[in-house]
Amino acid sequence: MASALLDRRLLAITGKGGTGKSTITAALALAASRRGKKVLVCEVVANERVANLFGKPASGTEIRLLLPNLYSVHVRPREAMREYALMILKYETLYKLAFENAAARYFLSAAPSLAEIVMLGKVWWHATQEEERGKPRWDLVILDAPATGHGLTFLTVPEVFLQLVQDGPLARDMRDMQSLLGNPDTCRTCIVTLPEEMPANEAIELHKALKAHSLPQGPLFLNGCFEPRFTPQERVAVARGGPALAAAGEAADNHEARADLSSLYASVLGKSVDLPLIKIPFLFDRVFNAQAIEKVAGIIEGAL
Ligand SMILES: Nc1ncnc2c1ncn2[C@@H]1O[C@H](COP(=O)(O)OP(=O)(O)OP(=O)(O)O)[C@@H](O)[C@H]1O
Ligand SMILES: [Mg+2]
Repeated sequence: MASALLDRRLLAITGKGGTGKSTITAALALAASRRGKKVLVCEVVANERVANLFGKPASGTEIRLLLPNLYSVHVRPREAMREYALMILKYETLYKLAFENAAARYFLSAAPSLAEIVMLGKVWWHATQEEERGKPRWDLVILDAPATGHGLTFLTVPEVFLQLVQDGPLARDMRDMQSLLGNPDTCRTCIVTLPEEMPANEAIELHKALKAHSLPQGPLFLNGCFEPRFTPQERVAVARGGPALAAAGEAADNHEARADLSSLYASVLGKSVDLPLIKIPFLFDRVFNAQAIEKVAGIIEGAL
C-alpha cells in the first residue's frame, strides 16, 4: 500500500501541531517530483512554510516553481472565495453585487465553515479540474492540512455540508469532493506524529476519527525518532573514563532513553493503528532547511 502512495491524485497531511506536517509534505513532494511527477503543494494554514523549507520566498496565492516539477501555492480564504464565487457566478459584476457589500461580507464571515468550503474547493479543483492540453495539470497535489481538530473539520466539510444541503451547484461540487476524499485509489490522508505521549495519543484518536468518517489513510509518519546508538559495552567504557567523560556518559544515556521512548511509541502506535508506520529519524541539523528535507525525502523513498 505504501509503495503506491505517490500515485494518488491527492495526499492530505495532518497531525498534532508542530509534529512535522510541513516537513513531511515537503519531503513527499520532493520524492514525487524526483520520480518525474508534476507536484503541487497546497498550504492552507495562515503561515506559509513549505517554500521556505526549500530556501525559497513564500509563494503567496500565485503558483510558484520551487524545484523542477515541484510547485507550491498558499490557498487563502478570501482569494479562494472570490475565485470560487466567480466560477459559479461567471461575471465579475455579479460577484461584486453578491459579495462585495458590507452585508454580504458580514454574512460570509459568519457562515460556519465557509472558509474551509472554499479552500477545500480550491484544492479539489487543483487536484481534479485543472487541465493542461486535456490532461490533469498536476500528477499529485499534496495538501499541508491544518492540525488535528481543524484538519478533521477541513476534510469533513463536504460530509457536513451534504447533511444540510443536497441540491445546487455547491452540493454537486461537495459530492465530487467527498468522492475524491473517500476513494482510496485517488486520495490518502496521512497522520504525522512524534514518539511522545501526547502526540501519540492524539494520532491514535485522529486515526479513529478519520476511519469513522471513511477517509482512507496512508502510512503513519513517526517523526523525530531516535535509534539506539551505544552498546552496553560502550556505555561501560565511557563510564570508566571517570569525571572527564561524565558529560559524554550522560549524553549517551539520554540518547538511549530517547531511543527507548521511540521504540515504545512505535510499538504503542503499531498496536493501535492498523497502518504501515514510516519512521523518520530526529535530525541534528543546526538549521532545518532544504538539506534536511532532502534527507527526509531519501528516508521516505527508501520506506515506500
Ligand atoms: N525529523 C526532524 N528532526 C529534527 N527536527 C525536526 C524534524 N522534523 C521537524 N523538525 C523541526 O520541527 C519544526 C516543525 O516542523 P514543521 O513545521 O514541519 O511542523 P508542523 O507540524 O508543520 O508545524 P505546524 O503545526 O506549526 O504547522 C521544524 O521547523 C524543524 O525545526
Ligand atoms: Mg506546518
